[in-house]
Amino acid sequence: MKIGIACDHGAVEFKEIIKAMLSEQGHEINDYGTNSSESCDYPDFAYQCAQSVAQGINERGIVLCGSGIGVSITANKVKGIRCALCSETTSARLSREHNDANMLAMGQRLIGAEAMKDIVNVWLNTPFSQSKRHQRRIEKIAAIEES
Ligand code: RB5
Repeated sequence: MKIGIACDHGAVEFKEIIKAMLSEQGHEINDYGTNSSESCDYPDFAYQCAQSVAQGINERGIVLCGSGIGVSITANKVKGIRCALCSETTSARLSREHNDANMLAMGQRLIGAEAMKDIVNVWLNTPFSQSKRHQRRIEKIAAIEES
């Protein structure tokens, strides 16, 4: 799968851990930065990653910052993006089954590396339920974007 990834200075370490894990699993990773611990603005990087998913360059996107909140808010401003902020695997699973989330946000300052890896794996490997009621709700979100 083609996966975009981005972070701010608060999550460079986790970005590298996720990249290594996903590359090992055979995924193709596109990295939208940042790549240093120098203070930066998370919207600059999360937006690039979200755009790449909205445009179909990447099938999924993962965004990281200190809390995960700033990058998730940013990603959800992009039309067509459904970004789920997760700190445990149940939310990650439900975000795929019910919401067909195409982006995942996490906070490096709030979760450990092993938990983060579990969240990523569950999120990537859980399919959308395809049920009519969940599809209808996603279509309503899309209609709100158009309004
Ligand atoms: C950066 O200090 C921090 O504000 C950022 O990583 C993130 O947590 C914002 O939501």
